[in-house]
Amino acid sequence: MNIVVGVTGGIAAYKAVSVIRALVLAGHDVHVVATDAALRFVGLPTLEAISRNPVHHELYDGVAQVRHVAMGQAADVIVLAPATANTIARVAAGLADDLLGTTILASTAPLVVAPAMHTEMWNNPATVHNIATLRARGAIIVGPASGQLTGSDSGPGRMSEPDDIVRAVLAAVRPRDLKGKRFVITAGGTREPIDPVRFIGNRSSGRQGVALATVASERGATVTLIGANIDIPVPDSIATIMVTSSSELADATFEAAASADVVIMAAAVADYRTEAIAESKLKKEIEGDELTLRLVKTEDILATLVSRRRRNQTIVGFAAETEPNDDRLLELGRAKIERKDCDFLVVNRVGWQEGFGGDDNSVTVLNRAGDIVMKASGTKLSVASHILDLLN
Ligand SMILES: Cc1cc2nc3c(=O)[nH]c(=O)nc-3n(C[C@H](O)[C@H](O)[C@H](O)COP(=O)(O)O)c2cc1C
Repeated sequence: MNIVVGVTGGIAAYKAVSVIRALVLAGHDVHVVATDAALRFVGLPTLEAISRNPVHHELYDGVAQVRHVAMGQAADVIVLAPATANTIARVAAGLADDLLGTTILASTAPLVVAPAMHTEMWNNPATVHNIATLRARGAIIVGPASGQLTGSDSGPGRMSEPDDIVRAVLAAVRPRDLKGKRFVITAGGTREPIDPVRFIGNRSSGRQGVALATVASERGATVTLIGANIDIPVPDSIATIMVTSSSELADATFEAAASADVVIMAAAVADYRTEAIAESKLKKEIEGDELTLRLVKTEDILATLVSRRRRNQTIVGFAAETEPNDDRLLELGRAKIERKDCDFLVVNRVGWQEGFGGDDNSVTVLNRAGDIVMKASGTKLSVASHILDLLN
C-alpha cells in the first residue's frame, strides 16, 4: 500500500518515527511529507532512513513530476502524525500553500489525523470546530490521549501511541467486504467453578478471538463477541457478552448463533467441569491430605452448533494442540474436523511459550475435506485478516 505520512511541527514528531517504521515493517511503501516546522523537531535523514524513501517538504521541488499533486493522487491513505493545531486548521480551511496542503487536497484517499497539542489548544473552540469539520468530511481522528504533556502539565492532547495510529491507518483502508454479514465470535478461556473462590481454567487470553472480532467489524460485519474471562480492550463497535463457565458460553453462543451467518469458536472451552460445585470454600482442615474432584464432560459446543447449523451458516472451529511434530499436528486437526464436521478448522500449536497470551500466532486452516486452505503467521490481527479472507 502507498501511504503518505504527514509529519507536522510538534514535540510528538519524534514519535512519528515509530509510526513510519511500523508501517514500513508491515510492508508498505511510505512517503513522508514534512512541514518546515516538523523538520525543526526531527531530522530529515532520520525520516528518510526510516521511511526508505526521499522525504519531501518543498512545494516547488520536483515540479517536472508535478509532485505537489502526484503524491496525494497516488496515496491509498494519508496520515497526519502528529497533527498540530495549525495544520488541522489549515486542512479544515483547505489551504494549499505548502506541499502537505496540496498533497491532501489532491487526494481522495482516507485521511487519518492524530492530533497532538496542549490541552488548552485542543479545547480551544477554534480547534474543536476544525476537528468537527474534518470529521464531517470523513477524516478519522485518532485520539488524542490524555496524559503527561511536554511540560509538567497533563491532560487531553497527547498524541495517541504509534501502535494505535498504525491500527487506525490499516483499518481505514480495509475492504468493507463483510458488510451485511452477522458474525458470532467466541474468545478467551472458560472457568469451571470448584467452589465460590476457585476454578479450573486455561491460559487462553482471548487475543486471537478479539483480533478476529476487531477485523471483522472493521471490514463491515455486525459482530457479537462472546468473551470468556477476557481482560483486553474490545472496540465499541462490537456487541460483547461476557461469560465465565462453559455452560454460560454455550447458552450465549447458541442464542447468538441462531441468527448468525458465521460462527467462529476461538474460545478455549473446558472439556471437563466439576460434577458438583461446593457451596462454600473447601478447607484443607476438613478435606485432609488429599482432595478428589470428580470431573464430568462439558457439552461439545462446536458439535451442537454444527447439528443446529442454519442454512448457509459457516462454522469455524479451533484446535489448540501441544503436538510438536507438524505432520502429527495436522493429523490431529484432520481427525477433529472429520469428527466435528465444521466448515473450517484453525489449527495452532500451544505450549508453555506458544499460542496463548502473546501478540503473535501461527495457524494452519483445514477445510472439511482436511485440505490445507491457508497458512498464516504474524500478529494476531494479521492472522485474523487471513482467516476472514476465507469467509467473505
Ligand atoms: C517547542 C515547541 C513545541 C510545540 N509543540 C506543538 C504541539 O505539540 N502541537 C501543536 O499544535 N503545536 C506545537 N507547537 C507550535 C507549532 O510548532 C507551530 O504552530 C507551527 O507553526 C506548526 O507548523 P506546522 O503545522 O506547519 O507543522 C510547538 C512549538 C514549539 C516552539
